Amino acid sequence: MKRREKMKQVRIGLIGCGGRSNSHRQSFLKMDDVKVVAVADPIEERRIAAAKQFGCERIYHDYTELYNNESRDTLYAVVICIEPTAHESSEIRAVEMGIPFLVEKPVDMDIVRIRDVARRVRETGLITSVGFQDRYLKLTEMIRDELPKHKPGGLVYGSWIGGIPGVWWWQKKSTCGGQLVEQNIHLADELRYLFGEPVSVYATCSRGIVKPGVNCSSEYDTDDHSTAVIRFENNYTATLVSGCYQLSGRAHCGLVITLEDMVIDYRLRNNLIFKTADYTYDIKRESIDHTYYLDEAFVYAVKTGDRSRIRSDYADALKTHELVFAANESMGSGQVIYFK
Ligand SMILES: NC(=O)c1ccc[n+]([C@@H]2O[C@H](COP(=O)([O-])OP(=O)(O)OC[C@H]3O[C@@H](n4cnc5c(N)ncnc54)[C@H](O)[C@@H]3O)[C@@H](O)[C@H]2O)c1
Repeated sequence: MKRREKMKQVRIGLIGCGGRSNSHRQSFLKMDDVKVVAVADPIEERRIAAAKQFGCERIYHDYTELYNNESRDTLYAVVICIEPTAHESSEIRAVEMGIPFLVEKPVDMDIVRIRDVARRVRETGLITSVGFQDRYLKLTEMIRDELPKHKPGGLVYGSWIGGIPGVWWWQKKSTCGGQLVEQNIHLADELRYLFGEPVSVYATCSRGIVKPGVNCSSEYDTDDHSTAVIRFENNYTATLVSGCYQLSGRAHCGLVITLEDMVIDYRLRNNLIFKTADYTYDIKRESIDHTYYLDEAFVYAVKTGDRSRIRSDYADALKTHELVFAANESMGSGQVIYFK
């Protein structure tokens, strides 16, 4: 019997049992065709708590121990949610063992290794998915449906401004990549999903507002804010701002797309406004968490072999990572980076 024929339940291994893993766990708890059978995390209380949720008995210290004790017959997929600097062989081992994986963005801090993993995935044809859940929002679909109805071209303002997340690795640019790489990569990805591949990027960054040790860790050394100007074909130019210095108040987050005859105002993960001279439509987002749709598409692909529901696989996500890492390069050099 073929592996897929006996796959009534997709047996999943969880690599990393922290905050983001919990969102995926909430999805899997709702799915009858998923069984979490193995977990790995160096933090004991986290791996135990995750295992308990699923009654799972294969509990490992880290992904190396998990891969050493499992195989593609015992695990049909892994879901990788570890801090950005912890990747090393977390995806390469999965590729070598032929285990499909869903990995959270940013998929690594090392762009050379990301390219290498992408090449290996391409060569093996492994099923992969990357955690760009905003692609699965109905509001995103509505923007994609609307854009072709208008003359292309215009200005796009994208923004993600807020405070500093609590996880230790967010406090340093070397361990999180900066806010554009770690967080606003979602809107960078959404820009690619809406407007295609970028032509060039120029970016600046700034520090000095946030004081290390005051409202954040004493190790804090990442940018307080950054601005990337990204040019696309068809005369679209996006200005994507990221800021983590805000203590109170609520900045506009999302995308404002100004076309010749319409303004599309997407309020991040909340609502979407279409505005013309004649009407204003304001649409609320659906109540189901969009991470559920991301997970469901991946599970469906593993179960059936049909990957058409996956909206960003590893090869596609590589391009979003190339964009945000190029923006970081531009912040350092002051030069415009052109994509071939
Ligand atoms: N898609 C999204 O909206 C979203 C939201 C939050 C976080 N994320 C991403 O998810 C990833 C994890 O973020 P988080 O908030 O869960 O971080 P976290 O710090 O809460 O959890 C990371 C976990 O990985 C574990 N870990 C480290 N090395 C490991 C190893 N070798 N083997 C197994 N486990 C290991 C850590 O002990 C920790 O428990 C990051 O890349 C982050 O950017 C994505």
